[in-house]
Amino acid sequence: MTTATFAKGLEGIIAAETQMSFIDGQKGVLEYVGIPIGELSSKSNFEEVVCLLWDLKLPKSAELAAFGRALRANYEIPAELADRIRKLPKSASPMHVLRTLVSELALYDPAPNANEPGPAREKALRILGMAPTLVAYYDRYRRGLDFVKPDKDLSFAENFLYMLNGEKPTPTMARAFDICMILHADHGLNNSTFAARVIISTLSDIYSALTGAIGSLRGPLHGGANEGVMHMLNEIPSLDAVEPYVMGKIERHEKIMGFGHRVYKAKDPRATDLQKLAKKLAEDTGNADLYAKSNAIEKIMEREVAAKGIYPNVDFYSATTYHCIGLKLDLFTPMFALSRIAGWSGHILEQLRDNRLFRPKASYVGPHDAPFVPMDQR
Ligand code: ACO
Repeated sequence: MTTATFAKGLEGIIAAETQMSFIDGQKGVLEYVGIPIGELSSKSNFEEVVCLLWDLKLPKSAELAAFGRALRANYEIPAELADRIRKLPKSASPMHVLRTLVSELALYDPAPNANEPGPAREKALRILGMAPTLVAYYDRYRRGLDFVKPDKDLSFAENFLYMLNGEKPTPTMARAFDICMILHADHGLNNSTFAARVIISTLSDIYSALTGAIGSLRGPLHGGANEGVMHMLNEIPSLDAVEPYVMGKIERHEKIMGFGHRVYKAKDPRATDLQKLAKKLAEDTGNADLYAKSNAIEKIMEREVAAKGIYPNVDFYSATTYHCIGLKLDLFTPMFALSRIAGWSGHILEQLRDNRLFRPKASYVGPHDAPFVPMDQR
């Protein structure tokens, strides 16, 4: 007989094995396949990181080139989906749009349920390649602009910014966006990755698993926090207003978005990288005040709540970074999703290689032997 333990929110429970990312929450360490995240963000690029996560090794030059060609061959979305985007309500949230359209991609796949390693990987590549086009097309449509078709000569990061803005990004902006993509690509068994693994463990299909993961990510306790951070920065009118704003929140026991983490009890290493990026971009783009406010919030939080293990997480400085790249606020969480499709897909492939159905138990805390009271006596 197995003994059952109960951990609310599955805190501290190991529910899967992974070879993709390692996190030491006490020391603030994150590695992808053993390589420290700072090494990857400074020396690699997003396509190479996807190869690393999916194949569990760095690609050789020819392998990376082949991967890049295959990914770019998937940039274009089915014409039916492009037409469909033109009929969506312009008021919809891009995260709801992305979730809906990733689900709809299954309708244009002749074999959406094929979970064997080859086809599953091809589907992952298809969705990773097409997802930026879905987001960029929707954003241009809602702004009343024509679609800008993807350019297969451009990298994942360059192509997204090109489709969104209609002009090629500067090398600095493209590199900044690429670094964001690297930093958000994978992160152990976070809520959305767990959701993806739970769904694929029924041997459902990759579209369903990614749709569920996108739904999970948009929550304000998870990836949606980056938009919450920007709302907060917008609410704080000046640097002088930071102290009373943050102290007021702490006194009212309200959470400051972009701080705290279930696993990290030290500064999230991704936040360290994003902070550097945010500072540089803020100076270059005339947003120094935004960075100054963020930094002031961090200092107050350090003074007031660091003893509880609450430090900036990935979402805190990504808000300033995305703003400086020129992204609209409600595209922040979709940006996270575009990158995390790499991690979710890697976990789906990993789960399929050694699957066991997720089926935990609930501890029943209701009554027993209750009478069935007839309708007229209730
Ligand atoms: N601001 C202020 N206090 C906080 C914060 C915060 N952001 N986060 C946690 N705390 C406090 C809680 O109030 C609680 O205090 P108490 O013990 O005095 O009641 C204590 O720290 C523990 O917090 P929990 O919410 O129970 O910890 P949990 O592990 O569930 O929280 C979570 C993790 C959900 C991320 C939380 O820190 C939070 O809500 N942060 C804000 C939202 C956010 O930034 N989410 C993004 C996380 S990163 C990611 O998902 C990509």
